[in-house]
Amino acid sequence: MEKPDHIPVLLNEVIDIINPASNKIYVDATFGAGGYTKAILEKASCKVIGIDCDQNTKPYAENLKNNFSDRFSYINENFTEIDNILKKLNIPKIDGIVFDLGVSSMQLDNKDRGFSFSGDGPLDMRMDNSLSTTATNLINTLYEEELANLIYELGGERKSRIIAKNIVQFRQKEKIKSTSELVEAIGIKRYSDKLHFATKTFQALRIAVNNELENIKLALNKLPSLLAPGGIICTVSFHSLEDKIVKDFFKTLSSEENFEKINKKVITPLYKEIRKNPRARSSKLRALRRII
Ligand SMILES: C[S@@+](CC[C@H](N)C(=O)[O-])C[C@H]1O[C@@H](n2cnc3c(N)ncnc32)[C@H](O)[C@@H]1O
Repeated sequence: MEKPDHIPVLLNEVIDIINPASNKIYVDATFGAGGYTKAILEKASCKVIGIDCDQNTKPYAENLKNNFSDRFSYINENFTEIDNILKKLNIPKIDGIVFDLGVSSMQLDNKDRGFSFSGDGPLDMRMDNSLSTTATNLINTLYEEELANLIYELGGERKSRIIAKNIVQFRQKEKIKSTSELVEAIGIKRYSDKLHFATKTFQALRIAVNNELENIKLALNKLPSLLAPGGIICTVSFHSLEDKIVKDFFKTLSSEENFEKINKKVITPLYKEIRKNPRARSSKLRALRRII
């Protein structure tokens, strides 16, 4: 069997939580290669709106359109626009929304997009190629202290000050334009048990370029009034910064009487899923239901 371009993480768990039913309307806010969308559409005669800000996800949507033309719509936008998207589609309330945060395998594996240091490519990192700021812009223009703070706050990198210093020294000689130049600039040839020494700096830059944390907050805050009674928000996150935003948001909402957490404890993948798909290893699923 052909290997899929992106293996959906925690797929069975997401579908169990959403529990798709006929005539309901669901949103897949991070469409990617459409793994969740397809599973929801196959489970019940419902409608799905797939949203993704990455222009490269269009071909996956076209494939699904062929099989589910009247039940599936694809919108190439940022999920922070969820309220306007639904208004344009004339949909006042939805029955569920899923977020599979972070990058797709297609984004990570395409070296021309600059998300990964495992191949050499331009230092871009934009999920949405209409964004004006790339990782090259940030790495070459931020002051040393700004860089250090960014790498510390968004990457959790304890060596952020040394790394920022190395980057600034490197870019005084030449502009940093590629992923391999950034790895060279980071310069600390140090490996911990599991992580490459550039991992946290790359993560921090990617989060900054795509405004990932702000986007999650913006979208989540719009959802309470868009959910029908019984409607569900289901999120899969991949690092502690995004998970904390979701956790805090769900905690606040579930202290009100019309929302409840579906899983009291966070759901993580089984060992057999991680063995098949190592990218699932840090995933965490949380879900919330609107009661009335
Ligand atoms: C982990 S992938 C989703 C994979 C998908 N669940 C599947 O099964 O194929 C995350 C996707 O979310 C998209 N994305 C991330 N942030 C976004 C945002 N703010 N608005 C819209 N799409 C976003 C990315 O472009 C990427 O395609």
